[in-house]
Amino acid sequence: MLPVLAAAWSLPAAAFLSALLLLRAPAWRSDGRGLLSDLFHQLIRYGKTRLPGWSHNYLVPKSWFIHFYVVSVVWNGSLLYWLFRAEFLGESLPSWIQDMHRALGRDSQSEDIADSEYFSALLVLLLLWLHSCRRLAECLWTSVFSNGFIHIVQYFYGLGFYIALGSTVLCQVPTNVRNGKVVRLGYDVPFGDWFESISCPHYFAELLIYVSMAIMLGFQNVTWWCVVMCVLFNQALAAVLSHEFYQKNFCSYPKHRKAFIPHVF
Ligand SMILES: NC(=O)c1ccc[n+]([C@@H]2O[C@H](COP(=O)([O-])OP(=O)(O)OC[C@H]3O[C@@H](n4cnc5c(N)ncnc54)[C@H](OP(=O)(O)O)[C@@H]3O)[C@@H](O)[C@H]2O)c1
Repeated sequence: MLPVLAAAWSLPAAAFLSALLLLRAPAWRSDGRGLLSDLFHQLIRYGKTRLPGWSHNYLVPKSWFIHFYVVSVVWNGSLLYWLFRAEFLGESLPSWIQDMHRALGRDSQSEDIADSEYFSALLVLLLLWLHSCRRLAECLWTSVFSNGFIHIVQYFYGLGFYIALGSTVLCQVPTNVRNGKVVRLGYDVPFGDWFESISCPHYFAELLIYVSMAIMLGFQNVTWWCVVMCVLFNQALAAVLSHEFYQKNFCSYPKHRKAFIPHVF
């Protein structure tokens, strides 16, 4: 385990879990007013779950989501390139990556690591990069962005998330290696496939992606499980807000649908 990294991922995971629990407390619900409660909802809500009539301070367009994937494709693509050259051409990783490794608690010299572990890290980085490419392509040619907003804190969290993600994968190995058609605008009740049992199958699928990466890195990688926890609570929070939005705005919303995990939550 890499304690610095595990702690760094546990912090946002704990913050998202706290937000999820606070959402259940009557004093923090969206109809409860107060400076702290307002700030809380400004920070956690975006897109369709943002409350009408709220201040537009510190907001950026939700279409800026695209920046996350541009950053991810470029950053994680570069890491993939360097790790590939290190693994197959026997080159050293750039010195700044080695410095970053050391700063994050990876001792490059003292570890005995199997070839399969290098390969796992390479594979996870490749999948992460492909996932980012797919999301970027979706943002460019499929998504139809509304006039929604996200808070600037969420925006910087998103940018940092994809940079930290690839760096975490890279730290799993030591350094001394070798357009969719718009039918109509507005929100509707989604249906079909996984939507029949949960409100947010895309968030659930996102979680499964990170769980599958945890399996690939070898079940016991505690640092990566901290990443999974972070995604779990982040996406659970967004799913609960989305689920509540549907229940509030569509009186015929199917009662049996869960928010995030089929039959569970
Ligand atoms: N790994 C992570 O930590 C992380 C964090 C955030 C997101 N993501 C991933 O990024 C992807 C997009 O996330 P998101 O939060 O933007 O998803 P989302 O809120 O469901 O929005 C996706 C798009 O669909 C629109 N939309 C949502 N519900 C709709 C409805 N009922 N009827 C019509 N249009 C609807 C949204 O419009 P509005 O914008 O107007 O709501 C937006 O354009 C997901 O796959 C998610 O898992 C990952």
